[in-house]
Amino acid sequence: MSKKYTITTPIYYVNSVPHIGTATTTLLSDVQARFQRLTGKEVHFMTGTDENAIKVLEAAEKAGKPTLEFVDNIADDFQKIWKEFKISFDDFIRTTEPRHHKGVYRLFNIIKENGYIYQDKYEGWYDVSSETFYKESDLVDGKSPDGNEVRWVSEENWFFKLSAFEQPILDHIKKNPDFIVPENRKNEVISFINQGLRDVCITRKSQGWGIQLEDDSAKVFYVWFDALINYLVSCGWPDSADWTDKWPAATQWMGKDILTRFHATMWPAMLMAAKLPLPKQMIGHGWLLIGGEKISKSKGNVVAPVELAKYLSEVSGCSYLLAIDAVRYYMAICMPFENDVVFTEEDFFARYNSDLANDIGNVLNRTLTMVHKFSEGTIPDAKIDAEAIDYISNCKKEYQHHIDNSRIDLAAKIMLNCSRWLNKYIDTKAPWALAKEVSIELNAVLRTMVYMLRNIEGFILSIAPDTASIIAKQLKLDAIKNWNEVGTEALAPINHTVGSPEPMFPRLDLKEMKKNLKESSKEDKKIEKQNKKDVKKEDDGSNAGLIDIKHFAEVKLRIGTIELAEDLEGSDKLLRLEVNVGDAKKQILAGIKNKYNPEALIGKQVVVVANLKPAKLRGHLSEGMLLAATDKDGSAVLIHPAKEMETGSEVR
Ligand code: MSP
Repeated sequence: MSKKYTITTPIYYVNSVPHIGTATTTLLSDVQARFQRLTGKEVHFMTGTDENAIKVLEAAEKAGKPTLEFVDNIADDFQKIWKEFKISFDDFIRTTEPRHHKGVYRLFNIIKENGYIYQDKYEGWYDVSSETFYKESDLVDGKSPDGNEVRWVSEENWFFKLSAFEQPILDHIKKNPDFIVPENRKNEVISFINQGLRDVCITRKSQGWGIQLEDDSAKVFYVWFDALINYLVSCGWPDSADWTDKWPAATQWMGKDILTRFHATMWPAMLMAAKLPLPKQMIGHGWLLIGGEKISKSKGNVVAPVELAKYLSEVSGCSYLLAIDAVRYYMAICMPFENDVVFTEEDFFARYNSDLANDIGNVLNRTLTMVHKFSEGTIPDAKIDAEAIDYISNCKKEYQHHIDNSRIDLAAKIMLNCSRWLNKYIDTKAPWALAKEVSIELNAVLRTMVYMLRNIEGFILSIAPDTASIIAKQLKLDAIKNWNEVGTEALAPINHTVGSPEPMFPRLDLKEMKKNLKESSKEDKKIEKQNKKDVKKEDDGSNAGLIDIKHFAEVKLRIGTIELAEDLEGSDKLLRLEVNVGDAKKQILAGIKNKYNPEALIGKQVVVVANLKPAKLRGHLSEGMLLAATDKDGSAVLIHPAKEMETGSEVR
C-alpha cells in the first residue's frame, strides 16, 4: 500500500493553453490535494502535459514553429497559468522528458515479455482530434462518433491484447464499487466492456514526432499508450526506490470523455498486463459547457481562467488574488459531477455577488465591525454557543467525507451554509439589541461569531486559499494550518484584539452591468444603422468610393519577416516566399520577380494581408498578399516598416 496520497490530473495536450474546462479538472483535484495536506497526509499531486500527439505536431506546423520550441512554450504557459491559479502540484511531468521515455520503453517491454503484445496490420480510421482509432462500424455519417473528421490508416503495427482483460476489469469494478465514480459513468464503462473490448493498436507510422520504438525508428508509440504511463513515471516508476510510496494513486481525476475508452479500460489492462497495482479511484466528471457545447479551441468558445479573473477584478474592484479565488470557488461549487454544467458569465457574476460578496464577505465585515463596536475590538471572555459547536462538529465530519469522496461541490456547499448560518445567527441574536444593556449573552454571541468565522476560514482554505488567509489577517490571528484546529474553541482566543474590516469582495452592480451591456449593444446598433445610412448615401453618389472604418478593420495587416525566397519554377513573374507573421508561417506567391533578387529579400520585413482567403496560383497555394506600391512602369515596390518591428505586429 502506498504511503503517500497520490492525486493525478490528466496531462493536457499542448495544442492550446488552459481554458476554464481544463482548469475545472485541475482545480477540483487541487482542492482535494490541499485538503489532504491540511489533514496531515503526505500528498503527491501531479499534473503535466501530453506532448507527443499528432494534433500537437499539426498545431506546431500551423503556427509555423519548430515542434520542440512550440511544445516548450505551451508547457511553460501551462505551468505559469496553473501557478497563477494557485494549483499546488508537486510534480509537472512532460511526455517529452527522458524519464517518461524510459518508463514507456520499460512498460512496453514488460507487457511484451508477459505475452500481451503482437504485430499485425492495422486498417481502419483515425480521429486526430481525440487521437482515437475507430473501425468502420463506429463511424456516424463518415465521421467519428463525436463528429470529428477521420483519416484512413493502413499500417503494419504493434497491438496490445486488450481483449484478454474484459473479465478481469469487470471483476475489479464489481469488487471495488468506488473504483469508478460517478455511478452513471461506471455504468457506461460496464456496458462498453460488455460490448467486447478490441485489441488496441499501440504504435503508429512515425511522422517525425513522438516516442520512437527502441528497435524501429520508423514507428512511434500511439499517443494514448505513451501518455497513460506518465502516471507511473511521475511516481518514480520504474527505477526510483520509493515509487511504491506513491503508486497506486488514491484518485485519478478526468473528464468523462477520456474515462471509458482510455482510463477505465486500456489503463487498468496495461497495469494488469504488467502486474502493477490499479489506482484506487477514478473520477470521470461532467463537462463545463459554454453555449451548450464542450469548450474547445476549434469551436471558438474558449474562456481563459486568468482572463476571467482579471475581468472580475476590473469590474468589481476586488483584488486580482481574490478574483482568482472567486473563479476557483465558482468551479468548486458548480462542479459538474454526474451531469454537465453550463457556464455563463452572468451566472458567474451572480454567484460572486450572492455567495462571496453578500454572504462570506458580509459575515466577515459584520463580525469585525460588531466586535469593535460592542467589545472594543477584543474577543470577549465568554462561552461559545453550544449550538454553534455542535453545528460545526457535524459540518466538519460531512466536509471531510465529501472531499474524501471527491465531491468538492458538496464540501463547498457546507462552507457556504456555515456562512449563511452565521448571517442568520447574527440576525436572530441581534447583538445591537443585546448591547442596549450589560449582557453576558452579547459576549457569547460575539465570541461565537468569531468562532464561526474561523471555521469558515478552515472550510474555505482548500478552495480559495487567499480568501482564508485574508480572513485570518483581518482577525489578526495565525492562519489555520491543520484540520485538527477546525472546530476547536482555541480558534477564537479570549481577549485577542481583532483588526479592522476591509472589504474583500465588493458587490457588483449587476443591474448597472446589464444596463451597460444593453447600452453598448444599443450603441452598436446605432453605429450599424448609421453605417447602413452611410452606405445608402454612398449609393446617392455623395460618398461614392468611400468605405467605412469597419470594412477597413476587417483587413488584418501584419508585419511579416521573409524567411525564404526563391524563384517559382515555371513562372517568369512569381517568387515563392515563406513569411513569418507571428502566429503562423505563410507561403506567399508574389509577382515581383522582375524587380527583386530572392536572396536579397531574406530577412526583410514587409506588410502582409494576413487574412486573405488562400488561392492557387500555377498549382501552388498562396496564403496572403504583400503590400506594394506600383511604380511608373507598373512594377510592384514592396512597403517596408521604417524601423525593425516585432514580427506579427499589427499594421493600422
Ligand atoms: N491528453 C489527454 C489526456 C491524457 S491523460 C493520460 C487529453 N487532454 S485534453 O487536454 O484534451 O483534456 C484533458 C482533460 O480536460 C480531459 O479530462 C477533459 O475531459 C477535460 N476537459 C476539457 N474540456 C473540458 C470541459 N469543457 N469541461 C470539463 N472538463 C474538460 O484528453
